[in-house]
Amino acid sequence: MNIQEQPTFDTPFAWIGGEDKVKALTDRFYDLMDLEPGYAELRAAHGPELGSAREKLFWFLCGWLGGPQYYTDRFGHPRLRMRHMPFKIGEVERDQWLACMAQAMTETEVPPELAERLKESFFKTADWMRNTDG
Ligand code: HEM
Repeated sequence: MNIQEQPTFDTPFAWIGGEDKVKALTDRFYDLMDLEPGYAELRAAHGPELGSAREKLFWFLCGWLGGPQYYTDRFGHPRLRMRHMPFKIGEVERDQWLACMAQAMTETEVPPELAERLKESFFKTADWMRNTDG
């Protein structure tokens, strides 16, 4: 394999293409949640407006990928499972979140190898956040 075809990055944040790409990914994720009938249960778990969620997921993902710690600087430790307790998260919601994120990653052209790794991590996190059998 030609080493020039396999650039190495210090962090997933650098690999994905930095802050602009994380913003594009987050925006597409919430646009799809709003638009696609297949994500209706996930959309229904959210309030009428998605602006705050959009901003928070962007801040969170920047830090989670190894970039600027915007989320923890503002809110401290993410404690995601605890923060999601007010919302019903069963297999349907988990799977819609993961499918919506997978579609957003494809449409914003996240490098496929990185996208596969992120899907595995997202699955673990989303599965751990389930708080109902439904
Ligand atoms: C790996 C999966 C997920 C990640 C990384 C994630 C991330 C986040 C983050 C960072 C926030 C902001 C928390 C705060 O400071 O209040 C949030 C809020 C939220 N999440 Fe998730 N989440 C995931 C899965 C899900 C799932 C499966 C659901 C399904 C119901 C969900 C529903 C919500 C809702 C309703 C909010 C509140 C939005 C608002 O502030 O209006 N999340 N999520």
